[in-house]
Amino acid sequence: MQYKRILLKLSGEALMGDRQYGIDPNRLKEYAKEIKDVTNKGIEVAIVIGGGNIFRGVAGASNGMDRVQGDHMGMLATVINGLALQSALEEADVITRLQTAIEIKEIAEPYIKRKAIRHLEKGRVVIFGAGTGNPYFTTDTAAVLRAIEINADAILKGTRVDGIYTEDPEKNAEATKFENITFKDVIEKGLKVMDMTAFTLSEENKLPIIVFDMNKKGNLFKLVSGEKIGTVVNI
Ligand code: GTP
Repeated sequence: MQYKRILLKLSGEALMGDRQYGIDPNRLKEYAKEIKDVTNKGIEVAIVIGGGNIFRGVAGASNGMDRVQGDHMGMLATVINGLALQSALEEADVITRLQTAIEIKEIAEPYIKRKAIRHLEKGRVVIFGAGTGNPYFTTDTAAVLRAIEINADAILKGTRVDGIYTEDPEKNAEATKFENITFKDVIEKGLKVMDMTAFTLSEENKLPIIVFDMNKKGNLFKLVSGEKIGTVVNI
């Protein structure tokens, strides 16, 4: 196995499946299965999930809502997704713990780094909810931050495209995919992988980012097994 401990970043939108809003239970089930296959191999899995399928702070702000208020709503959206994912994983007999950056003790454990690591060592999947707990930070930044804190080998960013391309492959069919790229090149070429806060935090801490298609069955497993899937961003 290529990795021992991974931080999987899932977008909230991915949970929508073919819907326009909310959570598609079939998509959740598929993800739970993909994650279970990886944990069965002894890989330690932590997950950060976005909330964009329910609410985006930035979108709220662009409609006149106070940004901090909007971001708080977005953080709660990630908790909703975290609970949904936790349910789906448990349905698949995967033991999980949900920890939130903002205390909602009746619903989930508060985020405690040492406890999170202990859970992982015991083979539990740990889902981190409520982003970093601060407004103005994305869940990508939360994912990088948590990955560094728990000493993950890499951050695996599950998207609907299978890597980083020279241009947006959904807009230009001529675009070609990178198998490997450096952090420096991503910035120089103006490519979008994560927002700059998340990206530079990852670079500074030498945390590799792998962008891959999470919707293709078996991809996550192949990736952690060492197959060349997606694009690896490294120093
Ligand atoms: P170990 O100490 O390794 O046995 O971990 P554990 O998570 O099994 O033990 P703990 O006694 O901390 O938790 C038992 C259950 O209660 C788990 O399902 C936790 O997720 C849950 N739990 C622990 N702390 C909290 C909390 O503050 N709020 C909520 N809602 N659940 C919690």
